[in-house]
Amino acid sequence: MVLVTATGLIKDYGNLRAIDNVDFEINRGECFGFLGPNGAGKTTVMKIIHCFMPPSSGNVRVFDMDVTENPAEIKSKIGVMPQEDNLDPDLTVFENLIVYARYFDIPKRVSASLAIELLEFVELKEKANVYIRSLSGGMKRRLLLARALINNPRLLILDEPTVGLDPHSRHSVWQKLQSLKAKDTTLILTTHYMEEAQKVCDRVAIMDSGKIIAIDSPARLREVHGGNLEDVYLKLTGRCLEA
Ligand SMILES: Nc1ncnc2c1ncn2[C@@H]1O[C@H](COP(=O)(O)OP(=O)(O)OP(=O)(O)O)[C@@H](O)[C@H]1O
Ligand SMILES: [Mg+2]
Repeated sequence: MVLVTATGLIKDYGNLRAIDNVDFEINRGECFGFLGPNGAGKTTVMKIIHCFMPPSSGNVRVFDMDVTENPAEIKSKIGVMPQEDNLDPDLTVFENLIVYARYFDIPKRVSASLAIELLEFVELKEKANVYIRSLSGGMKRRLLLARALINNPRLLILDEPTVGLDPHSRHSVWQKLQSLKAKDTTLILTTHYMEEAQKVCDRVAIMDSGKIIAIDSPARLREVHGGNLEDVYLKLTGRCLEA
């Protein structure tokens, strides 16, 4: 079953064409990764899928609804972990989750126990009453993951979920994502960590300059182009590593 479909998707920011006529389908239950260099258009695609902004042209359907026609209903079923930290610095860790839960009409009684459960899940329970400004960067990332799960989403959108995490936290976040996937949550993510993309993603789209230049399973891409996923990425995007 297809959960997300983009057809002829274009996004312009003024004169800049950030997304240049892309098509893709994302299936229910899969982990789908958008890979590509800075500025390729990954975040822009994610923002259109979670109805943060509309396409300039083309169609994007999520849960068989058009992102421009049913944004509220689509948003209610999606969890979003943004690339930029948008936590409320004037609130504690716990309060950030409670306030966010209000957007989904979750009653306070329910959201309080849910918040504790989620803080346990991301190993932040001992920070529940701490203000956001006292968290490390990695802790903020983990809190953003907890917050994205508050409405028990069927689709999770994760923009660089593991950036800035230490190796232990990164490994633990990937394990958590895999446990969510095992419970039939569909995952769409971006990452610059090719090794992780190779391990976690069922399929990846490699983007460059607003276009999708390859879309397939990591295994198939490696078979066709040779080397590991990083070699494929460097070959397709025309980038190379300094010796
Ligand atoms: N709000 C905006 N206004 C104008 N231009 C924007 C805006 N957001 C993004 N862009 C431009 O659109 C292009 C794609 O940006 P986007 O954030 O989607 O890239 P990305 O692939 O997520 O990059 P990164 O790996 O750095 O996160 C870039 O050229 C960027 O400068
Ligand atoms: Mg981005």
